[in-house]
Amino acid sequence: MEHVSPRKRIQDLRKKLDEHNYRYYVLADPLVSDFEYDRMMDELIRLENEHPEYFDPASPSQRVGSDISREFTQVRHKYPMLSLGNTYSREELAEFDKRVRKAVPAGYDYVCELKYDGVAISLTYEEGVLTRAVTRGDGEKGDDVTLNVKTIRSVPLRLKSEGYPSLFEARGEILMPRAGFEKLNEERRRRGENLFANPRNAAAGTLKIQNSSIVAGRPLDCIVFGMMGEGLPHELHYENLLSAGEWGFKISGHTRKCSSLEKVYDFIDHWQEHRTDLPFDIDGVVVKLNDFRLHRKLGYTAKTPRWAIAYKYSAERAATKLLSVDFQVGRTGAITPVANLEPVPLAGTTVKRASLHNEDQVKQLDIHEGDTVFVEKGGDIIPKIVGVDTGRRSKGSRPVEYAVKCPACGTKLTRLPGEAKSYCPAQNTCSPQILGRIEHFVSRRAMNINMAGATAKLLVDNGLLSNVADLYRLKANDLEQLERFGRKSAQNLVRSIEESKSRPWNRLLYALGIRFVGETVAGKLAAAFPSARQLMDADKEQLLGVDEVGEKIAGSIASYFSVGSNREIIEKLSEAGVTMEQDTSLEQPSVGKLKGKKFVISGSFSRHSRDQLKLLIGQNGGKNVSAVSSNVDYLLKGESAGPSKLKKASELNIKVITEDEFEQMLEG
Ligand code: IVH
Repeated sequence: MEHVSPRKRIQDLRKKLDEHNYRYYVLADPLVSDFEYDRMMDELIRLENEHPEYFDPASPSQRVGSDISREFTQVRHKYPMLSLGNTYSREELAEFDKRVRKAVPAGYDYVCELKYDGVAISLTYEEGVLTRAVTRGDGEKGDDVTLNVKTIRSVPLRLKSEGYPSLFEARGEILMPRAGFEKLNEERRRRGENLFANPRNAAAGTLKIQNSSIVAGRPLDCIVFGMMGEGLPHELHYENLLSAGEWGFKISGHTRKCSSLEKVYDFIDHWQEHRTDLPFDIDGVVVKLNDFRLHRKLGYTAKTPRWAIAYKYSAERAATKLLSVDFQVGRTGAITPVANLEPVPLAGTTVKRASLHNEDQVKQLDIHEGDTVFVEKGGDIIPKIVGVDTGRRSKGSRPVEYAVKCPACGTKLTRLPGEAKSYCPAQNTCSPQILGRIEHFVSRRAMNINMAGATAKLLVDNGLLSNVADLYRLKANDLEQLERFGRKSAQNLVRSIEESKSRPWNRLLYALGIRFVGETVAGKLAAAFPSARQLMDADKEQLLGVDEVGEKIAGSIASYFSVGSNREIIEKLSEAGVTMEQDTSLEQPSVGKLKGKKFVISGSFSRHSRDQLKLLIGQNGGKNVSAVSSNVDYLLKGESAGPSKLKKASELNIKVITEDEFEQMLEG
């Protein structure tokens, strides 16, 4: 075989991969199979690793991403990233055209484009190579997200063809097509992660991930809608876009040159009707003057160009009939009212159910049985009811009655003061709550037990699980009796449950699903109370001494542990061998040195974090308090301690001690 130098082979592979990328992601017309593509990419990465001297930031291998995370740096835009004036009405659009005509009596063309609902991006190219990608930020400066943007296959890393200026910026929108968005959310749902509300949020969230190899796996796309810089090939926007297409950018095939306002209206009408046929979301149409000379002539207001305007489609709304209202019980026992509707098409899907949020909302809408209601799809996942057509209400119809009993178990609902939602208090006997608690307990960020939601339901329905402690009593033999379980899957589940026993105490605390105790609060609590026993015995004042814990959280924790069946579950988890304390092998708690003494901590310290100090105080029998008052014994003063706290301490004659003195107290 003819010998090819590594350098030549690397160049060859880069060229081929670039071309395949372009055909696949920009033209949607691939030439080779995914397998073939992956094989070439693997070979390129191997050769580049063997020959770092040929490193090239524009190599297609750079799209795979890296897991080295780094904070985004802020970059000032060379040309500020402006926004567009908005209108929702034809009259305003006609006024815009009038203003244009006044300034430009001769003929002029508009360019009509879709208004992509994603995230604006500025791409800088130097000598045809992508050197920087920056978000809009505040318009003056944005985040440098180059590494993440390099993973987007429709963004050329090196331009094709010729005629591009040696330095210019391409401006465009990064978006996530709806299909990819739905798949991503489906995966997140399966893994028990938070869902993105819409494709725009998913695109924005993805761009801000500090690990470009995760970004590389997300289905982002980028459409270019403008260029800035000196030496562009034309003085015309539309013609420049065509050049951009030749250089390898993805430009929209829907952009149209329109020689009259009538044609602009036609474009608007067409996409108003067909927007849901597009694979991605748009929220309107952008109308721009084509001629750059007219851009300069018309100029800018403080924030927007006078030569362009966005015509926005209003949030889609539909009227339909309310059939009934269901009350759903969530994992924490929160009740959500959900309206069942006569199916109605709205923004590309058929809506059959919509959220009514909570009791106050139902009251405020004064919604009656059989009412005609307005449904809107906003930025939320679930459509919502935004109003009632009272004109079409039938005589004698009765207001919707809000649930007073749990729809699942019949227990009387409670509503805490200041809370919008009512709750079913039967945490350990109400079946959706049992299932919900188990699903939360096993979820990835909690105990990370490999058990699907359907399995949890099967086990609950068959009476094998009635609380989370029962998990640790499951035997492979019992599971095998159930249909759908083979020997292997039964053993896998039991093994995964066994492994979960060693999760740290803070994860267990989060997994218990105590209302208002999310991951962060669980972490803080576990640091302050290094064992379940200590947390269970803590009084309210001690709880309030923990960072981020206020009345609401303290009350929820106290009420959780005041329930006998909850304490029993903790007992059973402990008997099963689940980790219930922080690894304290390094600590030697000496009891009672600070017995009964109350401390206020202020400022920052050189050898301990504030949470560690709180922990030490608690472990030694002292108490943490947040405010200086006459019954406080010590103010533990660190660097930049609060001046008002110091002043108060001195007024009340409270002893102020340093970190050194505190350590001496513990030793002495
Ligand atoms: S042109 C000076 N064209 O809308 C005008 N913007 O409010 C620069 N957008 O931040 C923008 N599609 O992210 C333009 N075809 C399009 C657009 C578009 C979406 C976004 C863009 C910008 C915002 C302007």
